[in-house]
Amino acid sequence: MEKVLFKIAKQWIAGNTIDDALISAKTAYKSGRYAIINKLGEYHTSKKQITSTIAEYKKIINSFRKWKIRGAISIKPTQIGLSINQKQCYQNFERIIQDARHAHVFVWLDMESSEHTDETIEIYNSFFSKYERIGIALQANLKRTEDDLSSLLRIGAKIRLVKGAYREKERISFKSKEDVDKNYVKLMKILFKKGNEFAIATHDEKIIQKAENLAKKYPKKFEFQMLKGIRDELKPKLIKKKFVVSDYIPYGINWLPYSFRRIKERKRNILLLGNSLIQS
Ligand code: FDA
Repeated sequence: MEKVLFKIAKQWIAGNTIDDALISAKTAYKSGRYAIINKLGEYHTSKKQITSTIAEYKKIINSFRKWKIRGAISIKPTQIGLSINQKQCYQNFERIIQDARHAHVFVWLDMESSEHTDETIEIYNSFFSKYERIGIALQANLKRTEDDLSSLLRIGAKIRLVKGAYREKERISFKSKEDVDKNYVKLMKILFKKGNEFAIATHDEKIIQKAENLAKKYPKKFEFQMLKGIRDELKPKLIKKKFVVSDYIPYGINWLPYSFRRIKERKRNILLLGNSLIQS
């Protein structure tokens, strides 16, 4: 089962090591895309695991210059201590962004499930005043996001808009694809009107088309972000139209939860898994 899953997962992840991630980043860079590297893993509670995650992010930051890649990193707060306590997460985040500032590397904060939304925004708010090259992901499937977006835009925050990858309670979230998409477009319009240096992170061609139209009306600094291995045929078309496109490149041995999320996102991926299991 694990072997079959890994075969499918390989299209979305760079490999197990930092070097695999940097090779993927370099390949993306040669094709005109920027790289956002994420070390897979979340909800770390062991100090050893957290320390090694921080060390790896620092190594990636320092490698960008050596490998001549323009890139960013993307961190999940629970992989650097949020599952232990907020103070530890703050200290660890600061250690990473000190190196990032020195190397002029952009740092994204991924958004995890809604139990961590407040804490993640608080972390962002406390560091954005000290270091401007940080951004935060906001999820269109959460009803609270419109308010979060407004208050974050008031401080000039840099936002990555995503649909949301976590299963959330009905009370706090939009459930149907139609409602999530509708909210995504609504939030995207706000970003084009009031934001700057934001990211439209989706593979949804209809939404991407709408973003292209908005970009004509509101010429803002923004980029399209997509996951490694998804909609690879669309990326060069956007680059040809002079849009900036970044690849989100995950790596590491904790590839299973990430890959399950990708499989669940698309009926065709579930069928692919089913067929592969039958054949194995
Ligand atoms: P949607 O799922 O509606 O798909 C639209 C179309 O895109 C599909 O019809 C298909 O053509 C294509 N597609 C989508 N997924 C595919 C797949 N797995 N395989 C093949 N084709 C696929 N989430 C989160 O909660 N917190 C975060 O911090 C982030 N960060 C993040 C960064 C970046 C750069 C991206 C692109 C996405 C995230 N996400 C995320 C994930 C996000 O919330 C969402 O789960 C996925 O992007 C899938 O949603 P789409 O916008 O692609 O739309």
